[in-house]
Amino acid sequence: MYLLPIQQQIFDHWARSCEAGLGFLGRVSEFGTETLDRSLRLGLHGLPPLPGGAADPSVAAHTVPAAAARPALVPVPRPSGRIALVTGGIGGIGTAICQVLAARGHRVVASYIPAEAEFARTWEKEHTAQGLEIAECDVRDFDSCQRSVAEIERRLGPIDILVNCAGITRDAMLRKMDEQMWHDVLDTNLDSVFNVTRNVVEGMCTRGYGRIVNISSVNGQKGQFGQTNYSASKAGMIGFSRALAREVAGLGITVNSVCPGYVATRMVMAVPEEVRQSIVAKIPVGRLGAPEEIAKAVAFLADEDSGYITGTDLSVNGGLYMS
Ligand SMILES: NC(=O)c1ccc[n+]([C@@H]2O[C@H](COP(=O)([O-])OP(=O)(O)OC[C@H]3O[C@@H](n4cnc5c(N)ncnc54)[C@H](O)[C@@H]3O)[C@@H](O)[C@H]2O)c1
Repeated sequence: MYLLPIQQQIFDHWARSCEAGLGFLGRVSEFGTETLDRSLRLGLHGLPPLPGGAADPSVAAHTVPAAAARPALVPVPRPSGRIALVTGGIGGIGTAICQVLAARGHRVVASYIPAEAEFARTWEKEHTAQGLEIAECDVRDFDSCQRSVAEIERRLGPIDILVNCAGITRDAMLRKMDEQMWHDVLDTNLDSVFNVTRNVVEGMCTRGYGRIVNISSVNGQKGQFGQTNYSASKAGMIGFSRALAREVAGLGITVNSVCPGYVATRMVMAVPEEVRQSIVAKIPVGRLGAPEEIAKAVAFLADEDSGYITGTDLSVNGGLYMS
């Protein structure tokens, strides 16, 4: 078989990878020209979905048409790390997400609300060893998000991973909830997702790669007494994720939600002890979640290898709600 010089380079790399034990189930004759060229151009993130019956994982590799070669099986070098922005990154779950993403080789920026500037500076000092950085951004304000994204991208490079994690609660039964409580929660938890994502997604589309993970909640899935505002905002995030997932699926960008159950952060520890105990009693696993458990689910969805998972809401709730 004759290979163009650039294809030869990729073939050589493939052969070396096989020697190194990475392996590839097919033969080079099945490795079509189009796939090689697309892989090179798009960094493997724009390949078409498997046609019809070939989606069955039991189909042997040698029967898969060349144009449908699966990205995960093609050995091409990866960039060492990507730029990740985590809104609410200095909070309980946000900090764990920043730490886990950094441990996986990404350069991570945690955004903070201006009112928390002093705490954010202390947080950054405490996390310098892990390479974590901070950026001011009020997620309720579109212009603030635009400025912040532009500044991060100018300083560090394109944002390839976005985790929308900023969130608040203002609980009350609807009959006692005033307009301010409604708008505070909807602005911070849901409008924010538009404000930040709108400013990041354009670049992802241009580059043909992106991972967006929205931190929703079990209470957005099942509804929670005293949380019409919070439940509505978190359910809205799930709808947003699914709709955007469809819009950008062909451009190498995935959009997913993670739905934590009750996690031991200040948000939950602020709940009176007896209420917390009654919550734990209803969790099949028998305990609150740890922030790191949420962070690992986020890192999984943010991984390059998770390109075939999009529009999903991943429950991490100890079995509290099963749908
Ligand atoms: N803790 C839980 O049990 C739990 C469960 C389900 C979902 N969640 C969700 O996880 C996310 C993180 O929660 P957490 O428990 O770590 O809470 P947290 O209060 O520790 O963190 C929330 C972060 O959001 C930031 N924030 C608030 N308003 C902001 C604004 N206008 N602009 C920018 N940042 C702003 C805060 O500064 C804080 O850093 C939230 O979206 C929350 O709804 C938490």
